[in-house]
Amino acid sequence: MKIAIYPGSFDPITNGHIDVIERASSLFEKVIVAIVDNPQSKNFMFNQKERLSLVVKSIERFENVEVEVFSGLLIDYAQLKKASVVVRGLRAISDFEYEFQMALMNRKLDSNINTLFLMPHQKYIHISSSLIKEIASLGGDVSSYVPKHIEALLKDKYK
Ligand code: PNS
Repeated sequence: MKIAIYPGSFDPITNGHIDVIERASSLFEKVIVAIVDNPQSKNFMFNQKERLSLVVKSIERFENVEVEVFSGLLIDYAQLKKASVVVRGLRAISDFEYEFQMALMNRKLDSNINTLFLMPHQKYIHISSSLIKEIASLGGDVSSYVPKHIEALLKDKYK
């Protein structure tokens, strides 16, 4: 079975992420959305439990997609899950350097695991979880960029 891991912070999951999940689910027999639980320097807005439940609700319609929280090295987790591919979304050239570095480092750690970049629909090219949080915090409309349940939660958080 070809298994792919789609790792990220998902703080929170956006329609751009869901678009990538949909593309990956049509390419692989199983896709595991892997939510990172080692924040290192990051300050997450949603805690691990919240991020998990937001993803669970957002991927209900995909039969071959699961979600888990992982900590430690992504490559160790991918090996544990017997995944041969790491999926990452690529929006713009600005993503490239960071993604390129991670992909090459992950390949150095395990040359049997390849990173596959998928481009989301162009309507999501300019969005990121951070930008969505900023817009929502200032009372802007993010309804085109996140599922309804997340829009409501963001409104509630910034009330
Ligand atoms: O959504 P993000 O924040 O861009 O995702 C980054 C993520 C979670 C994919 C990356 O930080 C990661 O893989 N973290 C796990 C620790 C690890 O393996 N680090 C080395 C990466 S080369």
